[in-house]
Amino acid sequence: MDKPLDHNERIPVVKGNFNLKDYEEARRTFRWEDVEPRFTWHRTGKVNAAYECIDRHVDEGRGDKVALLYSDAQRNESYTFRQLRDLSNRFGNALRKLGVKKGDRVFIFMSRSPELYVAFLGALKVGAIVGPLFEAFMEAAVRDRLQDSQAKVVVTNERLKGRIPIQDLSHLEHVVVQGLTGTPGPKEQSFEALMEEASQELAIEWVDREDGLVLHYTSGSTGKPKGVLHVHNAMIQHYITGLWVLDLHPEDIYWCTADPGWVTGTSYGIFAPWLNGVTNVVRGGRFSQEDWYKTLQDHRVTVWYTAPTALRMLMGAGEELVRQYDLSSVRHILSVGEPLNPEVVRWGLKVYGRRIHDTWWMTETGAQLICNYPCMDIKPGSMGKPFPGIDAAIVDDEGRELPPYQMGNLAIRRGWPSMMRAIWNNPAKYQEYFRLEGWYISGDSAYRDEDGYFWFQGRVDDVINTSGERVGPFEVESKLVEHPAVAEAGVIGKPDPVRGEIIKAFIALRQGYEPSEELKQEIRDFVKNGLAAHAAPREIEFRDKLPKTRSGKIMRRVLKAWELGLPTGDLSTMED
Ligand code: PRX
Repeated sequence: MDKPLDHNERIPVVKGNFNLKDYEEARRTFRWEDVEPRFTWHRTGKVNAAYECIDRHVDEGRGDKVALLYSDAQRNESYTFRQLRDLSNRFGNALRKLGVKKGDRVFIFMSRSPELYVAFLGALKVGAIVGPLFEAFMEAAVRDRLQDSQAKVVVTNERLKGRIPIQDLSHLEHVVVQGLTGTPGPKEQSFEALMEEASQELAIEWVDREDGLVLHYTSGSTGKPKGVLHVHNAMIQHYITGLWVLDLHPEDIYWCTADPGWVTGTSYGIFAPWLNGVTNVVRGGRFSQEDWYKTLQDHRVTVWYTAPTALRMLMGAGEELVRQYDLSSVRHILSVGEPLNPEVVRWGLKVYGRRIHDTWWMTETGAQLICNYPCMDIKPGSMGKPFPGIDAAIVDDEGRELPPYQMGNLAIRRGWPSMMRAIWNNPAKYQEYFRLEGWYISGDSAYRDEDGYFWFQGRVDDVINTSGERVGPFEVESKLVEHPAVAEAGVIGKPDPVRGEIIKAFIALRQGYEPSEELKQEIRDFVKNGLAAHAAPREIEFRDKLPKTRSGKIMRRVLKAWELGLPTGDLSTMED
């Protein structure tokens, strides 16, 4: 869809009230330590992220300010910081009554709703590590994550609870169900009844900066999803990137469109806005262009953080639609999760009259690392420049830094505040990211230009990014081969103009099965109902045989080459 990249095209800074006035100056002078006096731990040595997000604003006289504006097709509600403090206190007490202690894993498997945020904050307040689960996950995906993390409690709702296989989860003690109907099943507790009984006064569990905060499961190219652990210390970076990249000012109305099941929805849907004390908009339900524009308009959103797929869909819906809404409140737009096409940036400027600021980071990095700042020119197609305090480089496989325009591994000097602290139960996996002395290796390839802007090129591994959602091919392949008709399956990301990539599966059928459109649909539904809708292959191609190494590993690289009509490269390890 795009013309070749132009490294000299610039969208200049617009006039504004930026929190970060001069990027180059900040790079020279900024120290992470300078941010710390913002937080309570500076005085006490102990901290709790939920206190810093919510209670602190009440204690400092901002209790009546609106913290959360929630809406969906049925509900339209607002909550002040004081109300969120009291509700999360209640939920914290409820969890304590259920025996939850510091360090226990409390998972949240709910649709976006005020109760999700109350549960999230309440769990943090008693020192639990929160594991958010995206609501589209089906039984197999839920089981893997709860088993690996040994979760003690899951908070869910009546619609989703059936996907929690309690019979397989001996460590799981309670399932707290919002909107419970009928008599509670085994291990079930009513969310509403627990809240009703609980006191509004809570003694917060003060923790150390290095204690666990959130556990996000994410996909790699091999093996099951891995649990990326972040700690309370990450909030230093959540706060300061909120101030300088999101450009949050106290009067802002901020909307991050990501679901808290993904890292953007926690780091930038919970922590960054509330640490900065702004009003946070949450919209429930699915994407629709009308609905999104209406949300921007009706809530008078000023800062909007979204994703390329959504922007491409909005672009597809056209200019006419934009004119039907009053979007004049929107001051600052940002994007994350996949490459942001220069086309989209130019369109945004023309139609919204605003620059779209790309940001690059990952589940593992916990917060933004490479960004476009309101005070800096944008080069459409570039991810921007490293955040002050972040040392980013392009290195070869031995860790040697490469000159401008040479493609290599995007690496970050180890030790920023929101860096993941562990892969749950898997220290070897954690070490892999740090295999080059002193560096974190992202798995993305990129290059830098002579002005220090970074340009994304692709993934080094087989991880698929479909509509900004990260999907591991192994997880999908494992599900596919559970289908009785499937003998072997190989899964790749196929380039797609709207979704970035779509999932394509190559399948060899078992004897006795014939290829047909019905069978494709059946297999697709099998993955959708067993794993997750977003993980189901949109395209399926039947083949008599799949390319494999002599040790039996499916060669996805060859499948990808077939798909793109490219040379297959070195085939010396392929079986006959
Ligand atoms: O490949 C990069 C892509 O998304 C991956 C991280 O996915 P996840 O952990 O799900 O986190 C997404 C949101 C933080 C990266 O390895 N990615 C993320 N941001 C960008 C991007 N690709 C291109 N441009 C970006 N701005």
